[in-house]
Amino acid sequence: MIKQQLDRFDRLDLLSGATAMEKLERLSAWLGRDIYVKRDDTTPLAMGGNKLRKLEYLAADAIAQGADTLVTAGAIQSNHVRQTAALAARLGLGCVALLENPTGTDDPNYLGNGNRLLLELFDAKVELVENLDHVDDQLNALAERLRSNGKKPYLVPVGGSNALGALGYVRAGLELAAQIEDSGLDFAAVVLASGSAGTHSGLALALSEALPTLPVIGVTVSRTDEAQRPKVQGLAERTAELLGVELPEAFKVILWDEYFGPRYGEPNAGTLSAIKLLASQEGLLLDPVYTGKAMAGLLDGIGRQRFGDGPIIFLHTGGAPALFAYDSVFN
Ligand SMILES: Cc1ncc(COP(=O)(O)O)c(C=O)c1O
Repeated sequence: MIKQQLDRFDRLDLLSGATAMEKLERLSAWLGRDIYVKRDDTTPLAMGGNKLRKLEYLAADAIAQGADTLVTAGAIQSNHVRQTAALAARLGLGCVALLENPTGTDDPNYLGNGNRLLLELFDAKVELVENLDHVDDQLNALAERLRSNGKKPYLVPVGGSNALGALGYVRAGLELAAQIEDSGLDFAAVVLASGSAGTHSGLALALSEALPTLPVIGVTVSRTDEAQRPKVQGLAERTAELLGVELPEAFKVILWDEYFGPRYGEPNAGTLSAIKLLASQEGLLLDPVYTGKAMAGLLDGIGRQRFGDGPIIFLHTGGAPALFAYDSVFN
């Protein structure tokens, strides 16, 4: 049902095929528990990551509307802004981004290396703002300014997380369900980072129809369960509505909020050890803002027996370019 509805939406085909699902052999042996990774960190644009899936739908809409500039916002080290700027470059569009410094750091690598460096290479125009507390108003004001200068801006929401963007993860959920069925394995759960919520909402929506007994666990990266729950639930409802389907009965928001401290953009000891463990055991790069926290949750969840029986899937959503902005936390 969801699949037929999804096929009605325009999409730029930027991924050209499914991302791999791989077993982490050494980590699995070390943990005594089989861990698989869905490699959305390898999507084929500008060092990869989850945003390309959302942008397949959002950029198709931008082009259909005759836009000439993608406008978005995020942290200085935003992976979302990096991927949006790269896609704008590839499509011959302009890109203007509002950036905030969420932790107030003056670390020169945070301010100029990693994702921020790449924005320069993609020729994105950047405006630093004090904060993004009223981001919709701030983006609308920027778009108005661009219009008065003769531009045709298209607003890409923070994280690409509106219903149209979340379709990218509905599609990913169906792709993952097919890989799970091919594997013949009975998985205990899928674990992912839950931020602006489009990834979590879209994936959980698709999997609640395709594999209704499989728990989809969102490890929050910036909010408590109480604050994140309405975001994931609300976006899943709007995405289902856009698709013209009911939320499946099995749809459920599962959040683990013990791993995001001290706050968004600041890794904790568990984040750093998860990053080091995956790098040293598997040569796999996580990041200090999203996937390091989600993996810390997965590892702690195994230790505390929070999962049912069976192998676990980690959705790797990318983010490694930010490592070069966070070198000081590893030294
Ligand atoms: C590497 C990485 N993982 C996970 C996420 C979270 O995805 P979402 O914002 O859709 O919740 C992001 C969002 O920016 C990200 O950059």
